[in-house]
Amino acid sequence: MTAPAFRIEQNPTPISAEERAAVLENPGFGKRFTDHMALIDWTLEEGWHDARIVPYGPFQMDPASSIFHYGQEVFEGLKAYRHADGSIHTFRPERNAARLRQSAKRLALPELPDELFIGAIEELVKIDAEWVPAHGEGMSLYLRPFIIANESFLGVRAAHRATFCVIACPAGSYFADPTRPVSIWLSQQFSRAGRGGTGFAKCGGNYAASLLPTTEAYAQGCEQVLFLDSCENRYLEELGGMNILLVKKDGTILTPDSDSILPGITRDTLLELAEQDGHRVERRRIALDEWRDGVASGEIVEAFACGTAAVVSPIGVLKAPNFTLENPPVTAESVSMKLRAKLTGIQNGDVADTNGWLHRL
Ligand code: PLP
Ligand code: COI
Repeated sequence: MTAPAFRIEQNPTPISAEERAAVLENPGFGKRFTDHMALIDWTLEEGWHDARIVPYGPFQMDPASSIFHYGQEVFEGLKAYRHADGSIHTFRPERNAARLRQSAKRLALPELPDELFIGAIEELVKIDAEWVPAHGEGMSLYLRPFIIANESFLGVRAAHRATFCVIACPAGSYFADPTRPVSIWLSQQFSRAGRGGTGFAKCGGNYAASLLPTTEAYAQGCEQVLFLDSCENRYLEELGGMNILLVKKDGTILTPDSDSILPGITRDTLLELAEQDGHRVERRRIALDEWRDGVASGEIVEAFACGTAAVVSPIGVLKAPNFTLENPPVTAESVSMKLRAKLTGIQNGDVADTNGWLHRL
């Protein structure tokens, strides 16, 4: 398919090379954005139109715009990596494009064709290529595509106008020491998503629901929150911004199967790599008690979380109001650490991409 044409409007006042170099030195996560953004409008009458790259900057919006009132919004997260030869690649972007369509469908937003999604990313990274950090572990350009409803109308129905936007920010590691085990807080009072709800979609509302429990987690000295299923409060779901996996003594990897969690692309990738390495994988309901009993008996030897922003993080402690679960220590031989090294190696171009997952920009 031919790439859609994007109108390009160069930023007349880009951030200076010195300032950009200072940001790239220590990018953090999601604090400083590149010089441009991609935009595509949608209306019920015209469909998707006016694809363009414009200077990064604020939106001017009507206070009655539907995004402000009913939260009709979906988003994605993916990264661009610089390889040792200077080339720039994204990782399985077609999966993000497909998931954005799934999310949009659930939120009654228009589905963006994949070639427009990929085209927007290609054009934005091309114009802001100097913002992609140098080749190196944990360094990337984080891309945040999103769709907002923007019809100015207070009736409660799907909006007839929407905007797709992609912004980008240089990113270092999400956690200060990415291989140090994280501590997680078990949210017993609050659920993230319920049966038939929006849990599988990547929409702002799911994250809004996770913020109070996340605040609680921080107050408990933990870095992330773990949610259980909302019906029985018994089965593992996911963390605020990552999926969860457990490893059994015999190398079998367990991960929750639920339609109220985000189908993570990092998780799918790690499971494919693990299966290629001979691990058995079980996607099924996992009771919290199975994890606790498994650690006590030595049957479960690892727990880890994964996602685009945070990559792979071993879970050290699970803290709850009435118990604390200490997972066995992580070593270089841990399944999570080996999978992490393989995944980041492929993404950074240091390990052969035998599955054809890289998309050269
Ligand atoms: N679960 C939640 C709630 C997330 O926010 C994320 C991150 O995007 C994930 C799981 C992992 O998804 P992915 O690996 O596609 O980034
Ligand atoms: C991502 O990993 O891309 C996410 O969207 C998670 C978010 C908590 C940063």
